[in-house]
Amino acid sequence: MNKFYITTPIYYINAKPHIGHSYTTVSADILARYWRTQYGADNVFFLTGTDEHGAKIFQKAESEGKEVQAFADEISATYQLAWDNLSISNNDFIRTTEERHKVVVAEILQKLKTAKTPKGNDVIYEGEYEGLYCVGCESYKKESDLNENGECPDHLKVPELLKEKNWFFRLSDYTEVLKEKINAGEYDIKIDARKNEILGLLDQGLEDLAMSRPNVVWGIPIPWDESQTTYVWVEALMNYISALGGLHSDVFHKFWPADCHLMSKDIVKFHSVIWPAMLLALDLELPKTIFVHGYFTIDGQKMSKTLGNTIDPNELVDEYGSDATRYLIVSQFGFGTDGDIARERFDDIYNAHLAGGLGNLVARVAAMTDKNCEGVVMEHEISDVFEIQTYWNQYNEAFGAYRIDEALKVVWKLIDAANKYLEEQKPWEVAKDDLKAAQVTLKTILETVRHIGLMVMPYMPDVADKIFEILGYNAAEYKEQNMVDLTSWGLLENGNKVTKGIYLFPRIEKKED
Ligand code: MSP
Repeated sequence: MNKFYITTPIYYINAKPHIGHSYTTVSADILARYWRTQYGADNVFFLTGTDEHGAKIFQKAESEGKEVQAFADEISATYQLAWDNLSISNNDFIRTTEERHKVVVAEILQKLKTAKTPKGNDVIYEGEYEGLYCVGCESYKKESDLNENGECPDHLKVPELLKEKNWFFRLSDYTEVLKEKINAGEYDIKIDARKNEILGLLDQGLEDLAMSRPNVVWGIPIPWDESQTTYVWVEALMNYISALGGLHSDVFHKFWPADCHLMSKDIVKFHSVIWPAMLLALDLELPKTIFVHGYFTIDGQKMSKTLGNTIDPNELVDEYGSDATRYLIVSQFGFGTDGDIARERFDDIYNAHLAGGLGNLVARVAAMTDKNCEGVVMEHEISDVFEIQTYWNQYNEAFGAYRIDEALKVVWKLIDAANKYLEEQKPWEVAKDDLKAAQVTLKTILETVRHIGLMVMPYMPDVADKIFEILGYNAAEYKEQNMVDLTSWGLLENGNKVTKGIYLFPRIEKKED
């Protein structure tokens, strides 16, 4: 059975979401929606959620004078609201303070306690840690990780020096096996630059991981030692199992392993080193792909809650609507590379690509069909002037490689080709002498618009629905069909009523300074 299990990181709730988080979540949503068209909705599981334990959250709630769980409830809700506003189609939203998560974490920890490493040692042992810790990252640091001021480069703060008794995960015993599995492609880290970074890290050898904290009260207790809580990263990673109902659930058996853990490069080490080592210790299959996209930066600096240089996705949705915001967020730069956000160019991009490119094409062909074709799809034969299958092949290939940016370019290539064809064929002039020829052109473009509607579905689901409605379909019923079958040329039904006067993207007038 073909299935697709995709996850976003579960986000920290020290502050509300910004468009950096939205980038990951919208991208995951696009992938999930695409794979639903291929495998059917029942065979795709798309998970997101919030990471709510640890010192960082505890300190933040205290600094705001709030009870921690109430604070967690409040901020977690802002994530859920943002995802609703952005039409995110997640199958579940996991919160690590939920009972269902805590129960599964306890069971997994007990399993690890009795497990052996590939070298035959106990996976878990008691020891002492002395070293640096960045609360912003919730992560241990080496001197070599810091900037010239001795600060964490992401949070611009000097890490704390910790000396404490902990339970350790014997990560060092996994160095070789992880290297072998990456090199053998048993799990894939995309893109190559990130994979090479991880291989470089493994070449240096791994240190064991302090996986419990004696002084953090806001966490999940270690089952065999209630004086310690679980290191927040260790339990957070387990959300990918707990959200599926734990190790014994049918949903877990259906969807495990994850096909894609999506994230940015800040947390690739946790997902490509610590997580696979934990899974090996549990004798579970490894994720197939860890896809690492780039950072949204502002003036070259990573957009982050801690630095306060953020853009609120809800404000963008208010201004542009949900679908256009999704487009603006994912069309900024290549999937996998960093890029500075051109907020001041959003209006221009919206007007050029959305109002001018797609919106204009659909509005014009609908209006001309109304005028020249009695407002219906006529019974003429049309030929496949764009060789549509070549577009579909490129589009599907891009999705197969997680290149949602490349697939989007294919859609816009088709939109541009259709607009150009309309300009060249001039059906509004041809209609005066040869009405049938004009009608054939218009039907050809209507059929192309149907394909464009199918292609934009993962990116702009409401716009796709509107396109299907303009073409005379009931969108909900239309989408119940097998989507792959619908990608053949010439399936637009004769007699369908075409509705004019619907503008998918009203133009934005230039704002006065
Ligand atoms: N709680 C951990 C993840 C645990 S997963 C088991 C965490 N949370 S986070 O809130 O800091 O989220 C980090 C992730 O948010 C990044 O990996 C990325 O997916 C997304 N982004 C946050 N800021 C971003 C940018 N400025 N640009 C791109 N992605 C951004 O780490």
